[in-house]
Amino acid sequence: MKEKLKKRLVIFASGAGSNAQRIIEYFKENRKAEIGLIVSNNPNAGVLTIAEKEKIPGLLIEKKQFRETGYLAQIKKTSPDLIILAGFLWKIPQVLISAFPDKIINIHPALLPAYGGKGMYGNAVHTAVVSNREKESGITIHLVDEKYDHGQIIFQEKCLLSENETPESLAAKIHQLEHTFFPKTIEKLLDETNS
Ligand code: GRF
Repeated sequence: MKEKLKKRLVIFASGAGSNAQRIIEYFKENRKAEIGLIVSNNPNAGVLTIAEKEKIPGLLIEKKQFRETGYLAQIKKTSPDLIILAGFLWKIPQVLISAFPDKIINIHPALLPAYGGKGMYGNAVHTAVVSNREKESGITIHLVDEKYDHGQIIFQEKCLLSENETPESLAAKIHQLEHTFFPKTIEKLLDETNS
């Protein structure tokens, strides 16, 4: 049977890139998709080192051009089936959202709509959850629209907070959930586009 064409992913990240690393490994194993481009706004981001190591083209973007053009030409050239935000801190400009409707997804380290929005990223999220003595937290994977952490929710998974939970221990639990469920959710979305 003709080998199914591999799906193509573009990953945006600003930080360490542990989610990007997991996604790369996951699709290397199941061979259903390949990463055509890794985009970052941070020259020191670990994710650009990962791109180099994995021989994936990397693109360093700057704010004004991103706001105005979304680097649409470069992104279009990789003809992505999905654009993955894996810890990307800038808002996605409308030009990209319009060019890739329902194809841009983000992962947020909390149970949206709670603990989302501008400034709610990384440890700020876990510190707020812990100081509010929440019983549970978790991850949310959602479609991206023109507002931070706002689009249609695709997937959520919860974890419980222990009595003596700290923001650091909660971050570790959340990263565990992200690394387990983000690649699987991406695969499910890609399979749905096969139909
Ligand atoms: C993750 O916690 C993710 O939920 C958030 O940014 C973080 C990225 O972590 N959007 P990493 O760079 O993938 O390790």
